[in-house]
Amino acid sequence: MTILVTGADGYVGWPTALRVADRTDERVIGVDNLARRRWVETVGSVSAVPIAPIEERSAAAADTGRDNLSMIDGDLVDRDFVAELLAIHEPRAIVHAAAQPSAPYSQINGERANDTQHNNLQTTRNLLFGLQEVGLGETHVIETTTTGVYGAPEFPIPEGGAVMEHEGEREEVPFPAMAGSWYHLTKSHDAANLRLANEQFGLPVSDVRTAIVYGSSTAETREDDRLATRLDFDYYFGTVAHRFCAQAVAGYPVTVYGRGEQRKPFVSLEDAVEGLARLALGDSEKRPAAHTVYNQVTRPISIVEVAETIASVGEDRGLEVAVEHFENPREEDETHRMEIANDRYADLIGEGRMDFEEGMAEVVDALHERRGTISAHEDRFLPDVLE
Ligand SMILES: NC(=O)c1ccc[n+]([C@@H]2O[C@H](COP(=O)([O-])OP(=O)(O)OC[C@H]3O[C@@H](n4cnc5c(N)ncnc54)[C@H](O)[C@@H]3O)[C@@H](O)[C@H]2O)c1
Repeated sequence: MTILVTGADGYVGWPTALRVADRTDERVIGVDNLARRRWVETVGSVSAVPIAPIEERSAAAADTGRDNLSMIDGDLVDRDFVAELLAIHEPRAIVHAAAQPSAPYSQINGERANDTQHNNLQTTRNLLFGLQEVGLGETHVIETTTTGVYGAPEFPIPEGGAVMEHEGEREEVPFPAMAGSWYHLTKSHDAANLRLANEQFGLPVSDVRTAIVYGSSTAETREDDRLATRLDFDYYFGTVAHRFCAQAVAGYPVTVYGRGEQRKPFVSLEDAVEGLARLALGDSEKRPAAHTVYNQVTRPISIVEVAETIASVGEDRGLEVAVEHFENPREEDETHRMEIANDRYADLIGEGRMDFEEGMAEVVDALHERRGTISAHEDRFLPDVLE
């Protein structure tokens, strides 16, 4: 039996594959078509932390004792490829982290929205139907969906379903459909498809609704430069905290839209990888049901707090970081105080491994080392005017 990690060349997938390989004697198969490397190139940017070509990454994994990890270059949109992959390797668990993961990229135009939705939905359906068709009905499917499927409701976000009341009747209903981008909606659909696959095929499912991930490394990726994971800072692929850190390093003010009091959910890379690895390795006592939703989030943090934390971390390192407020181009509630339940996830990973300030310090240090790359791409902090 094997464990499959899809999107294993990605920011989250690569360190997850390394951690899983460390903790098992089973073979770990990483699959990726290297699309993320190309997507970042097409928006004129680059990972701030250099990432080794895939062959070098694999060699470094073997050199550091992980010769049970194999990487396969393949496109999960291709149904025949997926069927063959599953039939040959018969995974007992799949961490499905392959996706086009950028909301702004999916919003560029209709073509990118199509590509994103086609890519993300097709890969997930191919895996779900593939498992059913090759007779692997027990394989545990663990997908990194997103907390973005919840939108920004006025009530505390539950870990999974919401209770609906109508004419005196109450029922818990799935809660995946409030997403605010063409990308996020792919994860809403995935969440619904995962639920259906659990109901129709009996597949055990962990729907891991992942918050915004921060951090530049994990224990495994620090072992060797060739094991480094990517760290993006551009408008399209850099997530908000990483982009702010890059702005601070490049000497730009950190730009907060409007009041910035709205809270967004965050989790460190270290903690996200730990949760996924534990699920893949089958800590079944922590899985209460055949279909379980986890809110993979440590805590919601306001955008202002994100900016101020980075400013203070930067100042400790001699950087002058101004926090500026600009008129908000987006329609959003700038004071939305998100509350989100995470009891199941906290129970799964135990004590969190990295707090937010420590994470921002790590990212600022990693980016500071690569400040030449950031300065050469600082026009990438903003969207292209043609958008
Ligand atoms: N990073 C975050 O803040 C965050 C937050 C919430 C959810 N997520 C989700 O977690 C997962 C991992 O995110 P990430 O930040 O590591 O993104 P990433 O882009 O670094 O990793 C995704 C990987 O999937 C690969 N991929 C995409 N389509 C593929 C296909 N058709 N066939 C094979 N490989 C394919 C890409 O090449 C990439 O390496 C994604 O599903 C993302 O939506 C990420």
